[in-house]
Amino acid sequence: MRTHYCGEVTETLLGQTVTVAGWVHRRRDHGGVIFIDLRDREGLVQVVVNPDTPEIFEKAEHLRVECVLKITGLVRERPEGTINPNMKTGQIEILAQDLDVLSMAEPIPFQLDDKNISEEVRLKYRYIDLRRDEMQDTMMLRYKVTRSMRRYLDDNGFIDMETPILTKSTPEGARDYLVPSRTHQNKFFALPQSPQLFKQLLMMSGFDRYYQITRCFRDEDLRADRQPEFTQLDIETSFLDENGVMALMEGLTKTIFKEGIGVEFNEDFPRMPYAEAIRRFGIDRPDLRIPLELVDVADLLQDIEFKVFAGPAKDPKGRVAALKVPGGAKLTRKEIDEYTKFVGIYGAKGLAYIKVNDLSAGLDGLQSPIVKFFPDQVMEIMQRVEAKDGDIVFFGADKAKVVNEALGALRVKIGEDLNMLTQKWAPVWVVDFPMFEEDEKTARMTAIHHPFTQPKATTEEILNHKNPEQMLSRAYDLVINGIEVGGGSERIHDTNMQAAVFKLLGISDEEAEDKFGFLLEALKYGCPPHAGMAFGLDRLVMLMADRESIRDVIAFPKTQSAACPLTEAPGTVSNDQLKELGLRFRKGLEQA
Ligand code: AMO
Ligand code: AMP
Repeated sequence: MRTHYCGEVTETLLGQTVTVAGWVHRRRDHGGVIFIDLRDREGLVQVVVNPDTPEIFEKAEHLRVECVLKITGLVRERPEGTINPNMKTGQIEILAQDLDVLSMAEPIPFQLDDKNISEEVRLKYRYIDLRRDEMQDTMMLRYKVTRSMRRYLDDNGFIDMETPILTKSTPEGARDYLVPSRTHQNKFFALPQSPQLFKQLLMMSGFDRYYQITRCFRDEDLRADRQPEFTQLDIETSFLDENGVMALMEGLTKTIFKEGIGVEFNEDFPRMPYAEAIRRFGIDRPDLRIPLELVDVADLLQDIEFKVFAGPAKDPKGRVAALKVPGGAKLTRKEIDEYTKFVGIYGAKGLAYIKVNDLSAGLDGLQSPIVKFFPDQVMEIMQRVEAKDGDIVFFGADKAKVVNEALGALRVKIGEDLNMLTQKWAPVWVVDFPMFEEDEKTARMTAIHHPFTQPKATTEEILNHKNPEQMLSRAYDLVINGIEVGGGSERIHDTNMQAAVFKLLGISDEEAEDKFGFLLEALKYGCPPHAGMAFGLDRLVMLMADRESIRDVIAFPKTQSAACPLTEAPGTVSNDQLKELGLRFRKGLEQA
């Protein structure tokens, strides 16, 4: 049907006759001559229609934007003054000799270059939204990234294998999406939150190195970097430990950045223990582009009168931390109030601060609502945070969790507001995660990664645990620019260890048998040591494409409320379908 893509018709084709096909991007009537910018995947080309070809001219007069055409014509130089050096095809134009309208187009619901279209509308007409340059570029980048992933893994002996979508619940910490079974009434499949258990079984089957680019389903509260269905690059290896997997996956990350967006990481990615990340940055996914750190000051403030600080300073679960912002003394009262409101989102009850105007003047050189409460300690605090004239020092005092979350988020916000980023890319491996944490609501222990992660402890230590929250695991996360792009661990490959971990998690023998009996049994029949990882593909592409939301890098994403405006999913079903499945609505919740 065509000889070239529109975007490929350049001066190398001068004098030749070509046939192109695509969408009318623009149409301009210039005193008897009609210009059409024709668009396809590869770009735009300018077509000229002259009145001396009346039958073509007649058709061109009635074209609307987004009509689909096939055009044959002569490639010629553009007249002087109309050359566009910013366009790949900007030196030439096609003089139309034949024009077929393959499809007319009704007026489109929004113009492709309109930046003020609501996301709801963009998603309802996603097939049009996807015609926009930046969406085409992002989808192309996504394809390039998965292509280089596959190539890298292939070169390293990995096999692409599929695992079931209709399956049983895998605990990754979210709510399951359930699918009722018709053939087993009252029973449900769960869509996989990840292929975790299957990939472990594949290691037991001897496949040695597995990967899969696969959809995972998690019914959780959505955010800019979370979707109910998202894509993982999922990986598992046998006979490699955590260091082996991290080395391979670091190589993969460097390869996709280089091949995807031309970014080269020449250094090894730094590694940071979880505890250090929390202490210095308040968060387990630190954005290391921002040169601000939390500094503990509780030890200096335990005995002061100011209860707001002394209370948390004495509380073993409390934290009092300072965050120095160089040059921050210029912040206005209004800006500080805004930041106080901001940390309130994370539960902080206030945001104390000290503006450092003139250190040489001692207390008189400090401007602050709180220094009066601890005049004897304040200079030591200034020394500890290495404050200089012109800085501001913020304080958080509360339960450690609140201080970490509040100051951790404030650090990032101020870093961005004040343009403090020191580099474009900051990858870091976070390692030495705790194995367990206490669920606040139920007071039960839960696994921080998942319960198949290898603890840094013996089976006996797990069984006789004194302080499970202090136990570390062989888990690791890859964080880039403050975004967790992947995570994994060395796995338990011993039945007794797995049983001990379930026990510590308060999972009874019956429950373990019911949920993961197949895994426990499989562990008995020859299981290699194994370890793996999963990357969040959407998050990686979002980062590389410099987009704000993973919705921008998914062709057909769900909205914030987990719906699809295009297909109007989720939708109602017929009573017959329900009946077949043995389902009925609870009273009052019948379908509209
Ligand atoms: P985890 O739960 O950390 O690990 O998931 C791996 C990566 O997937 C991405 N991710 C998401 N992306 C978009 N939307 C979501 N709702 C979402 N949830 C997670 C993140 C995350 O780092 N089975 C383990 C991996 C392993 O141990 O091998 C797992 O699923 O980038
Ligand atoms: P108050 O005595 O409540 O007026 O607080 C004095 C200063 O301490 C104000 O600047 C408050 O914003 C700040 N503040 C109050 N509670 C906290 C807290 N938990 N952490 C940090 N600063 C706080």
